[in-house]
Amino acid sequence: MKVTFLGHACLSVEIASKTLLFDPFISGNPKASTVDIEGLKPDYILVTHAHQDHILDVEAIAKNSGATIISNYEIATHYANTGLEDTIALNQGGETTLGGCKVKFVNAIHSSSFPDGGYGGNPGGFVVTSAEGNFYVSGDTALTYDMKLIGESVTLSWAALCIGNTFTMGYEDALIASNFIGCDKIIGLHYDTFPPIEINKDRAQSAFTSAGKQLSLPSIGESLEF
Ligand code: NI
Ligand code: MN
Repeated sequence: MKVTFLGHACLSVEIASKTLLFDPFISGNPKASTVDIEGLKPDYILVTHAHQDHILDVEAIAKNSGATIISNYEIATHYANTGLEDTIALNQGGETTLGGCKVKFVNAIHSSSFPDGGYGGNPGGFVVTSAEGNFYVSGDTALTYDMKLIGESVTLSWAALCIGNTFTMGYEDALIASNFIGCDKIIGLHYDTFPPIEINKDRAQSAFTSAGKQLSLPSIGESLEF
């Protein structure tokens, strides 16, 4: 499976002949100015919560690609009400099958208001399982014991965890999270985009290396194979 980092918390994952795009925040991210939004043709757009830095380009990309939007009930309904009726609404613990893979919406400890202050339901993360391997995208979250449930129920090839601190867990807690989920290959998200979440990348990566794990911090546009 091929995973491409598109800045901040946005990932594009090619798995089971489908492309899954997570949390597109591209046009508002000067660091991601090299990413051609019109060139993105996902089959599905997965949205972890309603904050601007996760939903900004959902509408434009969904319109351009015809992708199905997958999120919590409130966010899926919000897009359905704007005319993007191709949505799949999940709630915590719920799973949907997309051809060769399954997507489950799992707990995150965070908030989820829309940019206008409207209610965006409960924030979550996604666990994707397939014959090609399984992965977890945490969304914005604090470290939580609930992550142990993921480690107990699936074997993950890789996981994307937020590491930027301030609004989410920092890398130290992400390292503990990687133990809870039983995964040694971590992609760091949600860091360096704004001054409050700037981190010391060397320190973060050495913390993982010292624990026998790998923290990948790909450049924007860079792809990794798992
Ligand atoms: Ni957030
Ligand atoms: Mn965020």
